[in-house]
Parts: sequence; structure tokens; C-alpha cells
Amino acid sequence: MQIAVVGSGYVGLVAAVGFCEIGHSVTCIDNDLTKLERLKNGVTPIHEKFIPELIQKHRSDRLRFSDDLPAATKDSSVIFIAVGTPENGNGEADISYVEAVAREIAGAISTYKVIVEKSTVPVYTSKWIRRAMLLNGAPQEFFDVVSNPEFLKEGTAVVDFLYPDRIVIGGDNPAAVDMVRRVYGPLTGGSYYRNPSCIPGPDSYAGKARLILTSTISAELIKYASNAFLATKISFINAVASICEAVGADIGEVAEGIGSDSRIGAQFLKPGIGYGGSCFPKDLKAFRSVANEAGYDFSLLGQVSRINDDMRLRFLNKVRKALWTLKGKKLGVLGVAFKGGTDDVRESSAIPIIRSLCYGGCAVTIYDPGAMEHGREVLKDCPGVEFAESAYGAAEGKDALVILTDWEEFAGLDLGVISGALRYHLIIDGRNLFDPGEVTKHGLGYISMGRADAFPDKYPVFECSLLRKGERDSREEGTAGCE
Ligand code: UGA
Repeated sequence: MQIAVVGSGYVGLVAAVGFCEIGHSVTCIDNDLTKLERLKNGVTPIHEKFIPELIQKHRSDRLRFSDDLPAATKDSSVIFIAVGTPENGNGEADISYVEAVAREIAGAISTYKVIVEKSTVPVYTSKWIRRAMLLNGAPQEFFDVVSNPEFLKEGTAVVDFLYPDRIVIGGDNPAAVDMVRRVYGPLTGGSYYRNPSCIPGPDSYAGKARLILTSTISAELIKYASNAFLATKISFINAVASICEAVGADIGEVAEGIGSDSRIGAQFLKPGIGYGGSCFPKDLKAFRSVANEAGYDFSLLGQVSRINDDMRLRFLNKVRKALWTLKGKKLGVLGVAFKGGTDDVRESSAIPIIRSLCYGGCAVTIYDPGAMEHGREVLKDCPGVEFAESAYGAAEGKDALVILTDWEEFAGLDLGVISGALRYHLIIDGRNLFDPGEVTKHGLGYISMGRADAFPDKYPVFECSLLRKGERDSREEGTAGCE
């Protein structure tokens, strides 16, 4: 099929190369001419496995990049809208880009098209798109609007797209739904997975993608509710981790015990410094405001955000407590990306923590395997920040090492080398990358999340039961105030 994908961000670009990969011809539209030029030359704007290969594979044949939405509208039978829906300042999603695209499509439409909302959007957006199209002159028999939310994760985006847990198509006209269904036919029918040159996926994959057909409104709600549920799971395990620390339990054991109940599931039970990224924080707020408009006070979501903010403060207090005072300390920091496997630093929990360390008087040397460029940019105004070429370089001569992102590379570090590089022989790990026993074997003290602090014999440990000011504030008020 001939498809247009509007927007070449995470969702748009992955969908565009993914649709080519399963046999369609795609025009990927963007109004950023510099980005388009780079894409045409095979330069990928995001750090994501398989995207460069797929652009290379399809750009001479099925994949085109263009800024001409009217022409792409005329040429395509299905148009996916995958533009950004940032926060508007009140916690709501700003859908003005979606509206602008709908208006432009309306002006160019001359035969029947299916318009698919792929961006994460509030409930009723399909109805607003429909209204905008009609008001801008598109005859109603020339289009239908279908919702097809995307569930890919950064870092594994292409594989998530091609091997999804489910494909949700929400529409109210069966003929329009059927067209979108045909787009995904190679995945739902399984022919893509039988192709010897397919991108490799999980060994356990069922062989056919699961298809869920719903109403448009249900599909819109599924996307927000999924992200809100995943964020809730993370805040839940982080709250349990805090209790583990207080009572002397081990969050690894507790999470395994909880997650092995198939009704709960083991994923998204990793404790840490809190979720970040361009989706969870924004979508949680937007979902809460959708709920408010619908007359429901979804206060649970407020608590989920509060616990998340609190994790940053708790972690900061751990660093403070371990170092006695922050002023004058030199720290190696591993990770600035919001999670491992991506160059994305948007809403990364690492950023406010690094800022607080710096404003607290530390000199910080950061290393991140993928996000150095973006890290330099967002931290350029932060005093006392330097960047190193490697994890070992970041650790060299520092008092302690602080881990903020769960890159696989960090979990594979040689702890003997790290121990030799650090003055205080101390790791403070916000992502629980190591087994405490393994770390102490190398003569290092190890402070992690939801587990007892671990120190080698003869390490000068000082146990103080008094709460410091930050901890008091956090416990009494539950405030974030990380910076
Ligand atoms: C998230 C969802 O997982 C996707 O399904 C969804 O499509 C996407 O948002 C979106 O709406 O576009 P993403 O933001 O790429 O994907 O990353 P996640 O892997 O979900 O991680 C989000 C944050 O949660 C990261 O900061 C990560 O470190 C943290 N996290 C994740 C934890 O702290 N613990 C966990 O157990 C899992």
C-alpha cells in the first residue's frame, strides 16, 4: 500500500521504516527541512538500533522523505499522523500540531483516505480531527479517522514495532478499520516473521501479532491508560523499595516474589531514581487532565508522580549521607539518558540529580555511552560539570561513583579497575546494576536502592540515626524540590 507518515520523530520514523520493512511504500513527511535533508542522506536523528539499516535498505526504493504533505495526501490511501503532542503548560496535551496536519490534509484531499492518529492524544481527538477536516472543506465521504496507538519503547523501538504485544485499531467504520488492518497484515498474519531476512525479534514471539479491534475512543484511552499503569507499577515498586530500606528487606527478592505472580508480571518492577522520558511524565499529567474533564478526580496519578519526584530526593540524600557533605567532593557520574540504550535526556531523572549535586558544591564528571551530546546541551549552564570519554575516565581520581542510568555497558564494568580509580572506594547506584556481594569483593562500598548498604570489612562505616534536613522535608511533606 502507499502510506504517508506525518512526523519523523520517534514514533513517525520508526513507523515509516517499519511499514517499508513489511512491504509498503512510505512517504515520511516533516516540515523541518534540515532534518529531512539529513534523513535523505541516511543520517538518523535518533540513536535507535536498526533504524540506520532500514533507512539504508529502503530509501532507494520504498521510502521517501518530503515536506510536501498535500502531494503525499494525494498519493496515499492511508495517512498516519505521528506529530508531537507536548505538554501545553497546564498539564494538558498540546494538540495544535495534530490540528495543523488535519487542516493541511483537508485542503488536499480529493479521493477517499483513512486518517490514522498514531500520536499519543487525548480522548475525543479523532472527533476533533474529523471536525477540523470538515471545517476545512474535506467532504465527509472522503475520509474516516481511525486510532492506532503506538506502544514502542525507546532503545528497542524497531523491534517493539515489528514484534508488538498487540496492535490496537480503534475505528467506527469497518471499511476504514479494514484498511488499517491490511497495513498490518504481514505482522498479524505472520508472513513477515517467516521472511528469512526479517529483523530478528524475541525468541518467544508467538509468530503472529495480536490484533485488538475497538471503538476509536477506547483505543485513545488504551494508550493513556497503558502508560499510566506502567508508571504506577514503577512508583509502586519504588515505594516498596523505600520500605525495604527502612525494615531491612531486599527489593530484588521482594520484586521477584511479587512479579512471579502471573497476574502482576515481572516487568516494570525495577526500582531506581524514578521514571523519566518524553512519555510517562507528560502522559500521566495529560491523562489526569482528561479524567478531570470527564468529571473524575484521578488522584492516584498525582501520587504516582509524587512518589516519582520523591525518589530523586531520596537518592540525593543517600549521596549526601554517604559523603558527609557535598561541598568540594569530586564525583564520577555514569549516565545522563533517561534510560539505557537511548540518547534521549528528556525528563531524565539524572538531570535534576546532577544539577543538585553541582549546586550542592560537587564537581561532577559525566560519562554516557549515547547521550553525551544532549547531556552537554542541557547541562551547559550547570556549574562544575565535565564530561569524560569513558566510564573509567569518569571514575579516575574521584571520591565516589554515582550511577544514574541503566546502560548495559555499566553493568559490565570491571569493578577492580573502578575500585583502583576511586579515592573513597564507593559506588552509589540509583539503578541497582550490581550484586552487592560482588561489589564489596572488590574492596568497594556499595549503596543502592531498596537494599541494605554493603561495605567490605574494615570500611570506615558511620551509622547515624539522625535525619538530615532534606530527609526530614521529604518525609514530612513528601516534596520533591530536587533542585
Ligand atoms: C514508554 C512505554 O514503555 C511505551 O510502551 C510507550 O509506547 C512509550 O512510553 C510512549 O508512550 O511513547 P519509553 O518512555 O521509551 O516507553 O521507556 P520505558 O522503557 O517505558 O521507560 C520509561 C522510564 O521508566 C525510564 O526512565 C526507565 O528507566 C523507567 N523504568 C522502567 C524504571 O524505573 N523501572 C522499570 O522497571 C522500568
